[in-house]
Amino acid sequence: MFGDNGFFHSWWGELLLVLLVTVVATRIYASYVFSYWHRRGLASCSGSLPFGSMGDFVLQKKAISEVFADIYRQGEGHKLYGYYSFLSPALLVRDPELIRLVLVKDFPHFMNRGAYFNEKDDPLSAHIFSLEGEQWKKIRTKVSPFYATNKMKFMFDTIKSCSVDLQKYLLESSSMSESEFELKNLMSKYSIEVIAQTAIGMEGNNYKDRNMLSEMSFKVTDPNDLMQTFRFSLPFINRKLAAFLNLRFTPKETEDYYLDVLRQIIDERRKENIVKNDFMHLLLQLKGKSDTIDKGAGGLSLEEIAAQTFVFILAGHETSSSTIAFCLHELALNHSIQQQLIDEIDSTGCTIQQITFDQIQDLHYLDAVFQETLRKYPPAGVLLRECVKDYVCPDGFVIKQGTRLNISNYGLHRNPKLFPDPEKFDPNRFDKYSPSHNILPFSYLPFGEGPRFCIGKRFAMFSVKLGLYAILSKFRVESTGKSAPTVAFNPALFLNSPKDGIHVRFVPRTVR
Ligand code: HEM
Repeated sequence: MFGDNGFFHSWWGELLLVLLVTVVATRIYASYVFSYWHRRGLASCSGSLPFGSMGDFVLQKKAISEVFADIYRQGEGHKLYGYYSFLSPALLVRDPELIRLVLVKDFPHFMNRGAYFNEKDDPLSAHIFSLEGEQWKKIRTKVSPFYATNKMKFMFDTIKSCSVDLQKYLLESSSMSESEFELKNLMSKYSIEVIAQTAIGMEGNNYKDRNMLSEMSFKVTDPNDLMQTFRFSLPFINRKLAAFLNLRFTPKETEDYYLDVLRQIIDERRKENIVKNDFMHLLLQLKGKSDTIDKGAGGLSLEEIAAQTFVFILAGHETSSSTIAFCLHELALNHSIQQQLIDEIDSTGCTIQQITFDQIQDLHYLDAVFQETLRKYPPAGVLLRECVKDYVCPDGFVIKQGTRLNISNYGLHRNPKLFPDPEKFDPNRFDKYSPSHNILPFSYLPFGEGPRFCIGKRFAMFSVKLGLYAILSKFRVESTGKSAPTVAFNPALFLNSPKDGIHVRFVPRTVR
């Protein structure tokens, strides 16, 4: 059989041999690749071909933040823990003190996120979230004044008028006996209106249908479009692979629509000398002379303005709407917490129209509820960094340049050692005067930390709190029984978002 005319001389014998050699070579290669951290003396989770430790996410079994929380739990007892993003070795920073060094003290070593963007073919992807090094610094410095307290005071009135509209819509609906809502959908309409008005001065959401801006931005993260899900997520988890595939992050249709809208807005403002208190106005002022807009001389080009306003929509819309939805879900389940919050809102004696910038910030229980919502459901459940120059950890371990690092804020927030009884929704953890337990610095990170922390943090706080104030000053929220108490996250989205929506009933209150 194995002679001259035997097994290895037949075509199928040769094929089998090639297959055998390939399988053995692949196994040897895989065991070499996935033993990287072992060879470097660092504990790690396992990896397998082709997705490394990311299989559950790529195959859409789990949301990305749950995958990193699993890795976080597996790494119990280790300050730094290895994993594999496809074939690339990467690190999860577990220890709060080491997290502080990475995010704040030794930031220059970790200033990039290592997210892929493609300025040439996909200009909207070159936004502040993904930009790197000096380019990031330049934009962050330019846009930061927009988020300063004095600008926030102007924004406050715009956000408030959106929450007044939300309340009006709910009152009209309840007068027509419509009281059941899917919260993610409802709050998306509210938050896109807030963002569209404050970012580019665009109005026009009527809550009845989706508007075009919402439609187009939804296409970027559409969980039902598998290819787009892949194109959206890969740049954040494996830059090399995304670059190799020359991925477009933004659908072309969205890009064309958005650039067109911005051109029209800019033309209109130029012709009619319109001045609005929005982000766009600030960017246009930075740009310098209006006739240099497409050249970018001295200031920002149209594409740069487009990217920086578009990230406002991408980063601000989903995060804020999910936060309100998760919060109302918990309030519907926890009646005494809801009552305490309603009592605090009533104690101001103000309607949503009357509430002021300072008053809303003084509502301590509202703040505690907001913070506890973000603990249990951080919309951005994993932080991203890349090591840009070799770094020696306090224990001597060297993180090499080019290594990707992650921080699982979702894992930290659900760790019972850091937050006792983590599944319990307990705003008293964040009671300003007598918190129910100590919160270890750098264990609570819903907005990240350090020079790259969320630039929209205060904006988000106002948008969420005013939305909640508008609802709870007129309604009680009740569960319809259609949504399970434990919310499952949509595995097709990079941000934490309820998979099957959240269904509640708004019951009118007899006040104000
Ligand atoms: C509840 C709402 C929000 C949450 C939980 C949230 C969370 C986050 C997180 C975790 C980061 C990464 C921080 C880090 O890596 O250290 C981030 C970055 C960012 N967020 Fe937010 N965000 C929210 C709302 C917003 C809003 C409303 C805007 C826009 C107005 C916004 C704009 C941004 C931008 C531009 C970045 C990138 C900053 C940079 O790299 O310099 N976010 N956000």
